[in-house]
Amino acid sequence: QTGMFTYDPGFTSTASTQSTITYIDGDAGILRYRGYPIDDVAEGGDFIECCYLLLYGDLPTPAQKEDFKTRVTRHTMVHEQMTRFFTGFRRDAHPMAVMVASVGAMAAFYHDSTDITDPMAREIASIRLIAKVPTLAAMAYKYHIGQPFIYPRNDLDYAANFLQMCFAVPCEDYVVNPVFARALDRIFTLHADHEQNASTSTVRLAGSSGANPFACIAAGVACLWGPAHGGANEAALKMLEEIGDAKRIPEFVNRAKDKNDPFRLMGFGHRVYKNYDPRAKIMQQTSREVLAELGRKDDPLLEVAVELEQVALKDEYFIERKLYPNIDFYSGITLRAMGFPTSMFTVLFSVARTVGWIAQWKEMIEDPEQRIGRPRQLYKGEVERPYIPIDKRG
Ligand code: SDX
Repeated sequence: QTGMFTYDPGFTSTASTQSTITYIDGDAGILRYRGYPIDDVAEGGDFIECCYLLLYGDLPTPAQKEDFKTRVTRHTMVHEQMTRFFTGFRRDAHPMAVMVASVGAMAAFYHDSTDITDPMAREIASIRLIAKVPTLAAMAYKYHIGQPFIYPRNDLDYAANFLQMCFAVPCEDYVVNPVFARALDRIFTLHADHEQNASTSTVRLAGSSGANPFACIAAGVACLWGPAHGGANEAALKMLEEIGDAKRIPEFVNRAKDKNDPFRLMGFGHRVYKNYDPRAKIMQQTSREVLAELGRKDDPLLEVAVELEQVALKDEYFIERKLYPNIDFYSGITLRAMGFPTSMFTVLFSVARTVGWIAQWKEMIEDPEQRIGRPRQLYKGEVERPYIPIDKRG
């Protein structure tokens, strides 16, 4: 038992972390935040409430929620010097590259909340990350499209504020679409935490050495970017666009089954879920709400996605391997409909997952048994052999 990782020397890949935050039953397709089913948290509350729940372990009272919301809202501006930091990037840089850099750069701007042994510093760093990562994400988007940065507004809720920072322009008033704001708020909640996924494990491992909290979250952003993880939402939408028409679904399903073809159905399969990802159900319903708001109930991309899901779920290959749609399968359709380019999909995932990374980081840091993570290996290299001087080599 090394606090963060327990490992049995007989098993090289079994490393389990103890946590009280998120519970997943992959076979039953169950996900709960602090014991509350994801459907109830996503439908009954909002993302700020979800952040409070993940960070402090229980649903807030109205007064606690209002206080927490105010603390987050009043930290949404970033140090003005950070705007200059952005100007060093190429405009066509992928927004996730900018996110890895700018979240890490918070370690160079916010010195007074990095003493991880001080509970108050940990609290301030947590609030700053939840509050400022959306602002940095919106800045990455604005910089990418060559528009001026838009400041956060304290009169708007979390998701609405993010939408206005992304889509408002100085030349005219911007009115947040309440259906989009509600949908995005729910999407943030669905993506908030997910037990010991690759990026969360990255944050825990980085944090176990006592590293700067902002740098640890930047490490999580870097890991999430991969197409096998958070990058799958971008890849899934591109796949649906490439399929284009339900008539081409068999061609892509056959490619996904062909061992000689590296193509996989993006947004399908999961390391843990061997049943339907409960988040994917809510995501599909959310995509229908947003498309209906746009008068696009029969959106061709959604039709391809629903038909692809039906075909795959009846196919022996997918049934045998228990491959179901995951959260990334429908999220891209929804985000694209709201106006986000595919390059921003994983950025939005990182905005939402920041609270999960922080909650898991705090739990690890505050565990008195916690020690530096040190996964072991099964050595499969050369046995000992004599060194050969270079003049004796062939
Ligand atoms: C996320 O861990 C988390 O919680 C992550 C996440 C979170 O909230 O943090 O849920 C977010 O990352 C969701 C996953 C997004 N990724 C994708 O959608 C990419 C496409 N999916 C695959 O790459 C894959 O399913 C993984 C990476 C998600 C899971 O891989 P596994 O569990 O290791 O599965 P595997 O690679 O061992 O595959 C098992 C079998 C293999 O076939 P066989 O070798 O047994 O014949 O299933 C096949 C795979 O070839 N397979 C697929 C497939 N996924 C697995 N075949 C076709 N299409 C797929 N999508």
